[in-house]
Amino acid sequence: MHNFDSIKSLFEQRFGSTPTYEIRACGRINIIGEHTDYNMGYVLPAAIDKFIFFAGALNGLDHCRVYAADIDEYDTIPLTGIFQKSSRLWINYLTGILDQYRQQGVNLGGLDVVFGGNLPLGSGMSSSAALETGFATLVKTAFEFEITKPDIARLAQRSSHQFVGVPCGIMDQFASLMGREKQLVLLDCRSLEYEYIPCDLGQYEIVLINSKVSHDLSESAYEARVEECAEGVKILQQFYPAIQSLRDASKEQVLKHADDLGPTVFKRCLYVTSENERLLKVCEALREGQAEDVGPLLFETHAGLRDLYEVSCKEVDFLVDFAEQHPAVIGSRIMGGGFGGCSINLVDRSQSEAFIAAVKKAYQQAFDKEAEAYQVDIVDGTDLVKSIIYS
Ligand code: GLA
Repeated sequence: MHNFDSIKSLFEQRFGSTPTYEIRACGRINIIGEHTDYNMGYVLPAAIDKFIFFAGALNGLDHCRVYAADIDEYDTIPLTGIFQKSSRLWINYLTGILDQYRQQGVNLGGLDVVFGGNLPLGSGMSSSAALETGFATLVKTAFEFEITKPDIARLAQRSSHQFVGVPCGIMDQFASLMGREKQLVLLDCRSLEYEYIPCDLGQYEIVLINSKVSHDLSESAYEARVEECAEGVKILQQFYPAIQSLRDASKEQVLKHADDLGPTVFKRCLYVTSENERLLKVCEALREGQAEDVGPLLFETHAGLRDLYEVSCKEVDFLVDFAEQHPAVIGSRIMGGGFGGCSINLVDRSQSEAFIAAVKKAYQQAFDKEAEAYQVDIVDGTDLVKSIIYS
């Protein structure tokens, strides 16, 4: 666990100078709208106070020197020749960003970088997007490249696709960068139009429970879901030529063509079309100040992710089932790409501590594993915090 001070002093120890740039990159939550982003639907995420802090400076060399403090690993990225993939996933996320900037015509130079924070890796809070957006902000600042935050999000997504090899949607990078204090980002992933909705949950607060089951998005299951949805679009297009993505399809159309879609693709399409509908209901409830109406929709999403989209796992199912039985909780579901990570829960503030203690105890008994709980705050997204200009 690191904070800005420890990252800065590690930078000084390792490179013998003070860093020029300090960047704070955010993890994200998502209230609802899971696996809808690459289907051009809506998502409702926010940036949270789980951070990766970056300290950086130009080094005048022909390579970057990078220290990942949380995992105590050091590596270099040569800037001469074509960028090469590494067997270390984290370095690929950084190299991919450099590769994208080079493609944009940025004349790159060597950077010294130390990063680390309090954002748990592989827990569904998108540490990879924080890594990308934080490093992309460092590079654009160091090389004085003009680029807007939505364009950094797109650049980071392209990097994930082209260099890292993860066919992710835009949600994580967009939320990490564009998050705003106490607001949710309602993002239309087709047009990239967005608006902020106040995260007014009344007597309830957001509690994440980390199952500590680590997922890996490069694994083939995420890719398989992306492909199954594309297959669904191809089939539905034969009947409705206007359908370009599952965003354009309705639940009724999917139900009508169950046989044409076949059992697996049918389930995936039914989930996605239902999830878009649920998201719009959640936005309506929040706008009307009816936080209690949000809860049941989260349980519905979980059931969809478990039974139709099949991206849950027994540990997170347990956490959600337990939450459903607990009087303090009005809604709970698996969050993020799936196959592990965190559940997101809406919990009555006055009983959060009791819920957290109870769920941790039950989880320990069931799986002999220690769950972690986070009462997260919604904050402004990834940004440069400090830049020392030498004259
Ligand atoms: C991961 C991906 C996102 C999104 C979610 C599921 O976090 O990076 O683009 O698809 O899974 O909603």
